[in-house]
Amino acid sequence: MTRFPVLVSRRLPAVAMDKLAQACDLETWAEPTAMPRDALLRAARAKHGLVTLLTERVDDELLDAAGDQLIIVANYAVGFDNIDVAACTRRGIMVSNTPDVLTEATADMTWALLLAAARRVAEGDRFLRTGQPWIWGPEMLLGQDVYAKTLGIIGFGRIGRAVARRASGFGMQILYHDPWLSPDEPAGPATPVGLDDLLARSDFVSVHASLTPETRHLIDAARLGQMKPTAVLVNASRGPVVDEHALAVALDGGVIFAAGLDVFEREPEVDAQLLANPRVVLAPHLGSATVDTRAAMGLLAADNVLAALGGERPPTLVNPQVWETRRGAIGG
Ligand code: GLV
Ligand code: GLV
Repeated sequence: MTRFPVLVSRRLPAVAMDKLAQACDLETWAEPTAMPRDALLRAARAKHGLVTLLTERVDDELLDAAGDQLIIVANYAVGFDNIDVAACTRRGIMVSNTPDVLTEATADMTWALLLAAARRVAEGDRFLRTGQPWIWGPEMLLGQDVYAKTLGIIGFGRIGRAVARRASGFGMQILYHDPWLSPDEPAGPATPVGLDDLLARSDFVSVHASLTPETRHLIDAARLGQMKPTAVLVNASRGPVVDEHALAVALDGGVIFAAGLDVFEREPEVDAQLLANPRVVLAPHLGSATVDTRAAMGLLAADNVLAALGGERPPTLVNPQVWETRRGAIGG
């Protein structure tokens, strides 16, 4: 088989690099930082496949730099808001993502943040490290109960549902809001509600929406004001879905109790006022960051590239219409 030139914009776990290297001539960026834009534009030239991360903007400029021979952009992430999918589709370029393999790891991370924010785990950790004298106290670092409370899930897709499954073990009532889902869709013990209702009734609100123009700042100052003063907000989806500065102001003002954030509006930056607030638990976008999950994502991205370059249908295509058109063109 022809060895196709492929760019991997950052080094992936070894199993994935090895799998790709068996069939492709790989170019990659060995630094732990994102490839500078000009280097990316240069490196994309004449490639048949691009494996990109959420730190790379895939737009007309990059597609022009790559050239007409480009067949697939395989994103190493489930979210693909970094990619102009319409531009790829227009040019007959396939786009794939890495769904399913990271669902459970991301749901676990969501719960880690939920529990840590509710029970002030990070605050307790920081407190002990100051070395101050302390003694068990009836009102020391009091948090919020989780068991038997109400969890509201915004965006009831794969990850939202995995978060809901875990909530059953905590005896929680589960509400969800998802305008893309029919209310008749089987949702287990979860009840579909409007967004206003969800915000007013939930003790925990967890966001699992993909980032689109409609979901940008979905949670803003007004929506935070609809939540209970004892409520905890968790976001492990995409930062811009929450107005980060409005959240910092709401936390400082006691509008809600606490927050757990894995994602930020302007990564890698974090709002300074938020950083100064002890009630927010922060993680640097670690939702899928386990050894097994990152390997599985890498293998899935590799499978997508190898399928596309070998004339097969990539397993997790975002724009399947491109495959249908290509297959029609080659008379398959
Ligand atoms: C990570 O944020 C992803 O979309 O996979
Ligand atoms: C706390 O440590 C308790 O025993 O209640």
